[in-house]
Amino acid sequence: AWINHDVYLKCLQSQNSNSISKVAYTPKNSSYSSILLSAEQNLRPASTSPLKPTLILTPFHESHIQAAIYCAKKQGIQIRVRSGGHDYEGLSYTSPSKHPFVIVDLRNFSSISIDTESSTAWIQGGATLGELYHKIAEKSKTLAFAAGVCPTVGVGGHFSGGGYGMMSRKFGLAVDHIIDAKIIDVNGRILDRQSMGEDLFWAIRGGGGGTFGIIIAWKVELLPVPEIITVFNLTKTLGQNATQLLHKWQYIADKIDPNLLAQNNKCGVDELLSVMNRSFPELGLVKEDCTEMSWIESILFFAGFATSESVDVLLSRTPLGRVYFKGKSDFVKQPISENGLEGIWKRMLEEADGLVEMEFSPYGGRLSEISEYATPFPHRAGNIYMIHYAAAWNNSSEIEEKLTWIRRLYSYMASYVSSSPREAYVNYRDLDLGVNNDGNHPSYKVASIWGTKYFKNNFERLVHVKTEVDPSDFFRNEQSIPPFSS
Ligand code: FDA
Repeated sequence: AWINHDVYLKCLQSQNSNSISKVAYTPKNSSYSSILLSAEQNLRPASTSPLKPTLILTPFHESHIQAAIYCAKKQGIQIRVRSGGHDYEGLSYTSPSKHPFVIVDLRNFSSISIDTESSTAWIQGGATLGELYHKIAEKSKTLAFAAGVCPTVGVGGHFSGGGYGMMSRKFGLAVDHIIDAKIIDVNGRILDRQSMGEDLFWAIRGGGGGTFGIIIAWKVELLPVPEIITVFNLTKTLGQNATQLLHKWQYIADKIDPNLLAQNNKCGVDELLSVMNRSFPELGLVKEDCTEMSWIESILFFAGFATSESVDVLLSRTPLGRVYFKGKSDFVKQPISENGLEGIWKRMLEEADGLVEMEFSPYGGRLSEISEYATPFPHRAGNIYMIHYAAAWNNSSEIEEKLTWIRRLYSYMASYVSSSPREAYVNYRDLDLGVNNDGNHPSYKVASIWGTKYFKNNFERLVHVKTEVDPSDFFRNEQSIPPFSS
């Protein structure tokens, strides 16, 4: 990998004399390390997969990306595309299978144009959610978009895998509102929805990033929100009946008015209180717990900023914290008993000195109305909620201990969550579920182990699309969809 960077750079220059050298960084370049690390939110992947990229390209023109693809094919080197860099296993900037790679980092592909007339937006593939939300709020008080909570997540990876957020029970996922896209394929062609065809357009809306080509832009429909929404954030300890409350919550989470996602209601405080007191009086929500605000202020609120903070904080691409991190996911179809919940607390308390978290995200509403075949994201009707497990720590020496802990918790949960397959969310990527054989020769059989967990019956169709559009498996990583031939 190390010796190739000059050859690769020369190839880029010969393909594209047009200023490409200014956006190409080899290890000889003084900015190489800072660019490599800048989007790194999770310190774990690079510490366990130390192979560094041969070159990092930060293209600002399509022709730069086309050159990158051409030269990577010529040299037999992989491309890792990076948008926000939030992949849980770092697959956008590391190569656990140790195959030489270059990074195409889309930070300069981040412009967003909003058309309030048609309520649509074109968003370049390297924009972040924060940049998107900021741009929408600049143009309108009553338009919004339904996607994730963390502002530094990139639309390139996030929309490629689904995109769940605070408004998903009302509107569904980000992918449910993508109406067009531009992709550069393995042959360097720039395709839109019409020229790529409906099969590929289907696959890129949830089939996971890094498999089908490089998404350079998404077109989405924007969604209507009232000028005022209400939020609340309640803390309950075990001494305050947290177990019983959570137990009860499981019976209403997917059924309650879809205008409400745990904490997010369509209008003022009074309407929220009336819904909550009807469906979940045990929680004891009162007016003083609730705050009315605009949608963009709620974005700040859920991202952990003060609502008095300038919305410009959403434009920062710097991750909010850098930690060693491991995440996992599950889907729950039957309420977990109080005993079962108590078993969870016991295991969480074992790690009381660490940063551990389980987040229960409600399903139902619009999410259940959309067919599981409409997009590759299959976790629709029948799910009460999704669990997100996270462990974070500050020291590389703790990696093994923390991984063991989270794997034990995950194994304890097996009898309470979906089975055959035990479903998982591809945007909470988890290499424990399986990896393509050394990343070099993926096989259908091996990939279907993790593939059916992420995509259920859509896995087969994804493999068909992959076989059509990238039969030589140029765009690949440890969990990319393999073509049939392999
Ligand atoms: P990154 O750039 O690492 O890309 C992820 C994958 O997509 C990689 O395989 C990459 O190669 C590929 N890729 C990236 N850009 C591409 C492009 N333009 N074309 C093709 N492939 C591309 N999820 C959620 O649903 N709701 C949430 O609220 C949150 N919140 C959240 C908070 C934090 C702190 C983290 C770290 C993660 C989340 N997520 C999330 C998960 C998030 O949706 C997931 O990690 C996304 O894949 C991240 O997309 P990025 O572009 O940032 O990642």
